[in-house]
Amino acid sequence: MPRRTRALLLALLAACARAPEDSTVDAVEAVEASEARVVRTDRADLPVAELEPEQLTRFREGDGLFEAVYREVDGLGPAYIRASCSDCHREDGRGPGVVTRVVQTSPIGASLVQAGWSPASPLGDTERPYVTAGATIPLLFPDGPEIRRTQRLPPAVFGRGLLEAIADAEIERLARAAADRDGPVRGRIARVRLPGASEELIGRFGLKAAAPTLTDFTARALHGDMGLTSPLYPEEAPNPEGLTDDAKPGVDVTLEDVELLADYVRMLALPTRTSARGEGARLFEEVGCATCHTPSLRTRPDYPLAAWADVDAFVYTDLLLHDMGDGLADGVREGDAGPREWRTAPLIGLRFLPAYLHDGRAPTIAAAIREHRGPGSEANDAVAAFDALGDEARRALIEFVSGL
Ligand code: HEC
Ligand code: HEC
Repeated sequence: MPRRTRALLLALLAACARAPEDSTVDAVEAVEASEARVVRTDRADLPVAELEPEQLTRFREGDGLFEAVYREVDGLGPAYIRASCSDCHREDGRGPGVVTRVVQTSPIGASLVQAGWSPASPLGDTERPYVTAGATIPLLFPDGPEIRRTQRLPPAVFGRGLLEAIADAEIERLARAAADRDGPVRGRIARVRLPGASEELIGRFGLKAAAPTLTDFTARALHGDMGLTSPLYPEEAPNPEGLTDDAKPGVDVTLEDVELLADYVRMLALPTRTSARGEGARLFEEVGCATCHTPSLRTRPDYPLAAWADVDAFVYTDLLLHDMGDGLADGVREGDAGPREWRTAPLIGLRFLPAYLHDGRAPTIAAAIREHRGPGSEANDAVAAFDALGDEARRALIEFVSGL
């Protein structure tokens, strides 16, 4: 039975088995319950419609690499997290594979996420639980009183070509507006460098916007998640035995394969939007969600993929870093981002995601909104405004967001 059909049947069975509705269920739970009934029948792994035949061929080849399970002979390892892109981005979405980042507070017991956090080990903060190619010791960090571990759920990869295409000037415009604004919502550009480059670029990819391009991010994923070196990241990722190569001597993946994978991601379509513009969209602005989750940004006219060039990109992010407070902090410094900062998550195809926020702590959109609140979070006012809405209004807003 296809996975979706089975999931649908299981959901229906679970719904039938549930006890009759308890009259004490409060309004918020009712909103969340109605959210849980959303059933999806569409797909998120399709190419953009306007591809030329040779682009479509490239898309299919890249798709093959994205699904491929790399083996020891291909250069997997020595230490790695998963052996395939699709292990962590199934159907181009989120999970099931995750990445675990581990930091340590300073021995003097610094208060939550201020200056005193550092990677859990000299080998970094990223666990690599599997070994191959002669390695015997995985990279794992034991728990301890000063240890904080965060599981990062992968973002989806669909619609990311559109994020790459957004004009720098648009992001700079939003950063200036943020700097001039009175009030708690700030937002700043992540300025990052490609390895060996002197010029700074705008970080767009990754949960902390550490990577400026899809090519760079893909090479990082191959390297850090799968232990596959490429001309862009030619040295093996840290491993406890200090091994500097694996079963495939030298660089494991060609630049052409990195580009094929990146092009595959570039050519993925934006999933169809099901939200009607109306009351929900209006409330999204009124409550202040749209200040960070900017509904639309203009793309570059010279972006190489014609479908994404010179269009309004409805991506619902400003691509800026925001201080989300102690509640969401993971203590990790990465690229230009600090321990409490995150890139505004693009609200794209949310119905394809199994759980929300960087660590998947929120099972519903209502819960994701509430988790924006915390000491020092720029989003506190928006959460308060959401909570102050009546039931109907809250429902309309959530319905709008669910369909993005
Ligand atoms: C072990 C799990 C894992 C594997 C394998 C993996 N990813 Fe990811 N991916 C993640 C996580 C986690 C993130 C978020 C990265 C971060 O900031 O920590 C991510 C982020 C991304 C992003 C950025 C999305 C955004 O919104 O910024 C792209 C693009 C991506 N991955 C592509 C790939 C490709 C291509 C491969 C295969 C070469 C791959 N990933 C393999 C877990 C994985
Ligand atoms: C101050 C900026 C800011 C405001 C205001 C804000 N958000 Fe967010 N939002 C973020 C950031 C940053 C993240 C990523 C946080 C994380 O992953 O821990 C995020 C994540 C999310 C997610 C999870 C997306 C995913 O991929 O898991 C949803 C849903 C969401 N926001 C909806 C909203 C709604 C609805 C509102 C208005 C009530 C809102 N946000 C207001 C910055 C903001």
